[in-house]
Amino acid sequence: MEELKDTYQRRIDYLRISVTDRCNLRCVYCMPPQGIDLMEPQGILRYEELMRVARIAAGHGVTKIRVTGGEPLVRKGIGEFLRDLSSIPGIDDLSLTTNGVLLKEYSQRLKDAGLKRVNVSLDSMNRERFLKMTRGDNLKDVLDGIETAHGAGLVPVKINMVVIKDFNDDEVVDFARLSLEKPYHVRFIEYMPFNSSEGWQRDKCLPARQLKEVIEARIAPLEPADTSRGCAGPARRFKFRDAPGEVGFISPVSEHFCGSCNRLRLTADGKLRTCLFSDNEIDIRAALRDGSSDGAVEALLFKAVKEKPERHHINENIFKRCSRTMSLIGG
Ligand code: GTP
Ligand code: 5AD
Ligand code: SF4
Repeated sequence: MEELKDTYQRRIDYLRISVTDRCNLRCVYCMPPQGIDLMEPQGILRYEELMRVARIAAGHGVTKIRVTGGEPLVRKGIGEFLRDLSSIPGIDDLSLTTNGVLLKEYSQRLKDAGLKRVNVSLDSMNRERFLKMTRGDNLKDVLDGIETAHGAGLVPVKINMVVIKDFNDDEVVDFARLSLEKPYHVRFIEYMPFNSSEGWQRDKCLPARQLKEVIEARIAPLEPADTSRGCAGPARRFKFRDAPGEVGFISPVSEHFCGSCNRLRLTADGKLRTCLFSDNEIDIRAALRDGSSDGAVEALLFKAVKEKPERHHINENIFKRCSRTMSLIGG
């Protein structure tokens, strides 16, 4: 079996599949208030097409698949799709990133379908602010969803908080405290510049190191988490002594983790994205629809991996925002 390895000797074993561009929220950093022009339904890959790509990727060393959106739970048939994905030989980590609004209703079904775990976006535990951030009054749904997901065994439940200065940074300590009470992995994410995050300014993005200092000063020292357990990812993981949960920091802006990037992304309209921040996309949809052989599809995967850039350029003058909003990529 030939593994997917890029020019910089990084092994690509993680595929992020966005199944829809639709979402039931409108987070300010992700979408404009009126929403975005949605993709034509016929342009969106059918589940059979996504399965074919996933199977071929698994045949070349991909062991980890994350399903994203938009909001993946708004796509009809998502349970059956996850069941099919979980039956692909070689896929040992199947996870989903969700805004959590529908988790209360879906968790058990997702678990039964073979989903291992969920990452849930939550940027505020204050109802008014949640509403302002997401333009949806769903805080209670998300909190209930997190509990239900944990109860259903979709563990560890990871909570993703995008920290924006003067917007929700005053809640960082409360979020970190959650890990003292619950076995959740609370992750603080540096605010990244996207097309849709109109208000993005460098000083709105708080460096992870600074957040860690504040958390330790206000609560207690953080110790490195046992990374032999759980899953490797972009987060630097810590825990408070004897805490059931963990605290993690994802710092794409201040300390990028591109050197260990192991991922490839597939958008809902069938483009392989070589990097979250690169508009270099390889179309795979045409090959999936014109009767091309598996070999031809495979060749496109290898091409995308070969074209993976060494790193992103957020911090350089040459940086250009991507043409897609985050909801069209899936994080
Ligand atoms: P785990 O496997 O659970 O660690 O998942 P994950 O952290 O890779 O996935 P998730 O969808 O929860 O993403 C969390 C945050 O990390 C989001 O803000 C993503 O946009 C960001 N992220 C994930 N992968 C990358 C990446 O390759 N580059 C950058 N810059 N950010 C990423
Ligand atoms: N910066 C950082 N994280 C973002 N996400 C969406 N937009 C941004 C941004 N501009 C996060 C979501 C979700 C994940 C997929 O990406 O909150 O947790
Ligand atoms: Fe929807 Fe996620 Fe974008 Fe919020 S960040 S609008 S939940 S896709």
